[in-house]
Amino acid sequence: MYLHGTSKINEQGHLVIGGCDTTELAAQFGTPLYIVDEALVRQRAREYVESFRASGLKFQVAYASKAFSVMAMCAIAEQEDLSLDVVSDGELYTALKAGFPAARIHFHGNNKTPEEINMALDANIGCFVVDNFNELYLLNALAGDKGKKVNILLRITPGVEAHTHDYISTGQTDSKFGFDVGNGTAYKAIQEASAQPNLELLGVHSHIGSQIFEVEGFVMAVDRVAGFAVQVRDELNILFRVINLGGGFGIRYVEGDTPLPISQYVKAITDSIKSNFSAAGYPLPEIWVEPGRSMVGDAGTTLYTVGTSKDIPGVRKYIAVDGGMTDNPRPALYESRYEAILANRANDPVEENVTVAGKCCESGDKLIIDIELPKANNGDLLAVFCTGAYNYAMASNYNRIRRPAVVFVKDGAADVAVKRESLDDIVGNDLIPARMQQASAAK
Ligand code: LLP
Repeated sequence: MYLHGTSKINEQGHLVIGGCDTTELAAQFGTPLYIVDEALVRQRAREYVESFRASGLKFQVAYASKAFSVMAMCAIAEQEDLSLDVVSDGELYTALKAGFPAARIHFHGNNKTPEEINMALDANIGCFVVDNFNELYLLNALAGDKGKKVNILLRITPGVEAHTHDYISTGQTDSKFGFDVGNGTAYKAIQEASAQPNLELLGVHSHIGSQIFEVEGFVMAVDRVAGFAVQVRDELNILFRVINLGGGFGIRYVEGDTPLPISQYVKAITDSIKSNFSAAGYPLPEIWVEPGRSMVGDAGTTLYTVGTSKDIPGVRKYIAVDGGMTDNPRPALYESRYEAILANRANDPVEENVTVAGKCCESGDKLIIDIELPKANNGDLLAVFCTGAYNYAMASNYNRIRRPAVVFVKDGAADVAVKRESLDDIVGNDLIPARMQQASAAK
């Protein structure tokens, strides 16, 4: 059994996270429940910040809030001196509501609407990561309307494809994101960007994928970006002050996943920056990164109650839990794998191989295919590990299932950061048009 962060098993065989017995958390807050190990989140944030500090380069570590955007998480990011990457008005609003300093917010996205751009301009965010020509001209115009000059990075695709699941690769040429270096689009974008009066071009951004275990992809991206920077300096006399290398640093979901310590990713990137830029006699740029998954992923655990089971002799046994693809769509979307234990009987010996199914009306709603567990009974608690990133963030109300609560635990304290949705929340935005009400009344 691999336990992350502050997780441990107490003498009663209960899983304890952040000093809180998960059986008590289940009783107090109900299930399904997202539990966040606050100390582990802060530890990850500090690993990034300290590794960059050790490099001697100027830096910003921008938490990619898409992984888990809630106000409490923005508050932690602020306290840990992180910057914040947002990709929609909703994430921007969450950050601003949490009091996150706008100057440390970076706005991403391949189709920012005029309303979103205006909202970000009004908030005076620190930087826009411009994705395409439409956005470049629109942002220049909207900034001009407000009499502002705004910092931008250009998102470029350096043609590096990291080893990862197809659906989450973004660095290769065939991508909906960014300006391609290989076909000259990025070069043209630099020329255009530097000609816009209301835009201040700080540099470029590159993100090569997600859940990456090797440094090679990042080093290759740095080589390409540095080569491009030198070409732009030599031919256009433009210097990049900032290089943003995106996120993508992998985490351990299951045995066999072999992520590197954060310090090693950072060292590989910063060493490569230093050697490439020094060799070209180029002033060392500031380095920004945008980790999402590796900041919060292993700090999250989802607690479920086991309900029914179905044994199909010679085929498989299903046990069903009170959540599923609504709170964790990743197995259905990406065939992602997870580890789990019975949180109330963690010391019991493993007895059978089961498949953990969710409660959605869909055959594909399986959270874990083939896991060894003690014989689970109705009412047992199942803890699924490593659900901190892209679980709550991607949760839905499919089947009108309510989204679970999120609880942050630390040193024996458990605090609700997001309330469980109520049935009234489920219908809260519904309206029955008057003509339908009249038709009902007339029957
Ligand atoms: N920066 C940019 C521009 C990105 O597109 C992403 C992730 C990140 C940073 C953060 O990457 P991370 O450090 O979390 O790997 N829903 C998928 C992941 C999609 C990632 C999209 N972009 C999943 O559940 O695996």
